[in-house]
Amino acid sequence: MKIIEGNDGVKRVLARLLAERKRGYSLAAPFYLDDDVFDLDMDGIFARHWFHIGSAPEVPKKGDYFTVEIGRYSIIVTRGEDMVIRAFHNVCRHRGARILTEARGSTRKFVCRYHNWTYGLSGALEYAEHMAPHADPKCLGLKPVHLRNVAGVLFACLAEEPPEDFAELERTAAPYIAPHRIEDCKVAKQIDLVEDGNWKAVMENNRECYHCTRHPELLKTFFQFFGHSESDVKPRQQEYYERYRRIQGEFEAIWGQNGLQWKAVERLEEDKPTPYRVERMALDNVGESYTMDTRIASQRLLGDLTEKRLGALSLHTQPNSWNHFLSDHAVIFSVFPISAEKTLVRTTWLVHKDAVEGVDYDLENLTHVWNKTNEQDATFVAWSNMGARSPAYEPGPYTPNESQLELFLDWYVSRMGEYVGAAAVRAPVAARRAG
Ligand code: FES
Ligand SMILES: [Fe+2]
Repeated sequence: MKIIEGNDGVKRVLARLLAERKRGYSLAAPFYLDDDVFDLDMDGIFARHWFHIGSAPEVPKKGDYFTVEIGRYSIIVTRGEDMVIRAFHNVCRHRGARILTEARGSTRKFVCRYHNWTYGLSGALEYAEHMAPHADPKCLGLKPVHLRNVAGVLFACLAEEPPEDFAELERTAAPYIAPHRIEDCKVAKQIDLVEDGNWKAVMENNRECYHCTRHPELLKTFFQFFGHSESDVKPRQQEYYERYRRIQGEFEAIWGQNGLQWKAVERLEEDKPTPYRVERMALDNVGESYTMDTRIASQRLLGDLTEKRLGALSLHTQPNSWNHFLSDHAVIFSVFPISAEKTLVRTTWLVHKDAVEGVDYDLENLTHVWNKTNEQDATFVAWSNMGARSPAYEPGPYTPNESQLELFLDWYVSRMGEYVGAAAVRAPVAARRAG
């Protein structure tokens, strides 16, 4: 949908929209619908920041690859002869043809099917018939995309010089994830769900649990207090909240006994290029896993873990992911923007590589809760999108339970403001909170 047009430049229009944004309110409609804003989001957010792109078990062997489409970009993620995971632009260095059109596969070489230019797994151009005499094949390898592997979780950056604060995320999150030994997992199931909404609406929906009563399957285990402050607990929730506090205490003892890091680290500041949040969370009832009976879905626990009841380690990263690591499986979510009103949510369930389907785990049992939750969330995103299309839509107020959502949007607005040169949107947080 085209909304912004004019000769004063799309960036200037966006700068004005950002400056007009009222903190504590949802965004104006163009942020969710407009094609030009979408293109600027790709340039200002996805081309300049680290983003989540998947997990190491998606490429277990040399030559395994998967491709990711983000806006106009197409990226190849592959494991090299040296077992190192790398990423490249999926663009041939001859005349730019897309090299891989498959979502995933395995290969010895990347061959462009137009004129057979052939690249090794390291990206080097290894074969090109009739190479022009003025061209140097050494300079015509696939363009690299920065890639980091954080204890099996993969992040990419399209910028030539990626934000340096990624090292902090890596240093902090890796010890939390490491005991789950993601590199020793396999993909049990991966599902791509195309949602009818802007990528920011998908993220906003993920970052609040105000709607969690709409997730009956998830609420078998998930406590509804994500993003809530103690003062927001209503009298009717008091008993539930006390159970949460008691169970949280039990989990803290278990995590301590098992030598697991659990304390929340929240670095979601709006001017931080690579924001993240990591925390181990208590789960309700038996509290072992995200299943309907709340018990482990896979009998083969991850890594060397021996305790089934470990709750869920949650890793949130801006701009595009949430991840849960349990004793028996991990579930990894990446958000890939397709267009202004379409977003791909990729969900990957990982189990121990030796776990056998039908013996150690049942796929339906493993995937049921998050499948249902994803379907429900996709509906909410579609409803929001439909609403934002109406001329009657105007930004509405966030509740105190949507604080994590606000942190996401504050970051987005701040980073985009910097990109388009709208200094006004970066007023100090305290001043804006008072306002
Ligand atoms: S465009 Fe790839 S070989 Fe010609
Ligand atoms: Fe949800």
